[in-house]
Formats: sequence, C-alpha cells, structure tokens
Amino acid sequence: MDFNALLDSRYSSREYTAKPVTDESIGKILLAIEAAPSAANLQSYFVVVIKDLEVKEQLTVASKNQRWMMKAPVFLCFFADITQYEKKFGDYMKDITPIQDATIAMAYAQLAANNLGLGACWVASHAREGIDSIFKLEGNMMLIGILTVGYPADSKPKRKRRKPEEWSQEI
Ligand SMILES: Cc1cc2nc3c(=O)[nH]c(=O)nc-3n(C[C@H](O)[C@H](O)[C@H](O)COP(=O)(O)O)c2cc1C
Repeated sequence: MDFNALLDSRYSSREYTAKPVTDESIGKILLAIEAAPSAANLQSYFVVVIKDLEVKEQLTVASKNQRWMMKAPVFLCFFADITQYEKKFGDYMKDITPIQDATIAMAYAQLAANNLGLGACWVASHAREGIDSIFKLEGNMMLIGILTVGYPADSKPKRKRRKPEEWSQEI
C-alpha cells in the first residue's frame, strides 16, 4: 500500500472477524520489525506471539479486563529486553533505551499488520504484577505493550487530533 494511504487508513481496531491470521502474515509482521531502527543496532526487544486461548484470557484480565481483546486471534507481546541492552551499555540509559527500541518495533508491527489488511490495537494498560508469571521469560524483560491482531470487523472512526501548531515549534 502507498505509505500515505497506509498512514491515513490506520486506526486502532478493537473488533475482529473469526478469520484466522496465518503464520505467513505473522512472519511478515516480524520481518517488518527487523527493518526498524534500534539503539546501536542492538534490537533490545523481544516479541512473544500468542494464539493460545488460555494465555490470551490471562493477558486480557491483566489488561484491566478489556474483553474486546479476546476477539483478536493473535496477540503480539512486546518486551524491552533490558538484558540484551545491558550487554553493551550496562546501566547507562537502560531505563529508557530498550523501551524506545521495543516501542519502535511495536509501531512498525502495527503498520505492517495494517499493510496486510489486518487490524491491530495497542494495549498498554496492564497490571505489572502477575505478568512475569504468565510469560516466564529469561532475563530482564519489561512488557511494553500487547498488539492485538486480526481481520477488522469495525471501521475507522472519526477522531480528533491536536494540530501541529499545538505540539510543535520552530527555533
Ligand atoms: C501507549 C499506548 C497504549 C494504549 N493502550 C490502549 C489500551 O490499553 N486499550 C485500548 O483500547 N487502546 C489503547 N491504545 C490505543 C489508543 O487508544 C489509540 O491509539 C488512540 O485512541 C488513537 O486512536 P487511533 O489509534 O485509532 O488513531 C493505546 C495506544 C498507545 C500508543
């Protein structure tokens, strides 16, 4: 899709059809992440692909029980891989840089999903406690967000945006 058309069509989709998301599509989304910039090219992120109903249920409950999430066939969970970052930089800026890497990766994934005709929504409203026991990952991983992915059953709503004059300036 043309880049401007992709930007223009993107929205947070929260309703999905039952059509499954193929592994091929998931693979393409992961490949788009590979193209993302990252600090010192360390790619300090980690992604867990979730299709399992029970795990999705646990994550939905941990995300303030946003029930609409369960309609999405796939959750992509994005972590800041702090251990990967520390290998090169130790404590230096470790509170922010891996989060930036994971956030950029997630933004790329959302656009890649849209480009495949899929709908997606960020979910980053989750209780920290309990999350680690759901994933049981090695190393210091911080969950940044869950991207729900599926074929959209809703359409782009009208939304208000602040104007560039409100959030930018020239010096
Ligand atoms: C960091 C972040 C956290 C978000 N968390 C949630 C969430 O927990 N639940 C939800 O329904 N949407 C969530 N969203 C989606 C936003 O509500 C949505 O992007 C915003 O309302 C603008 O709408 P749009 O994406 O359709 O342009 C989140 C988005 C971001 C970037």
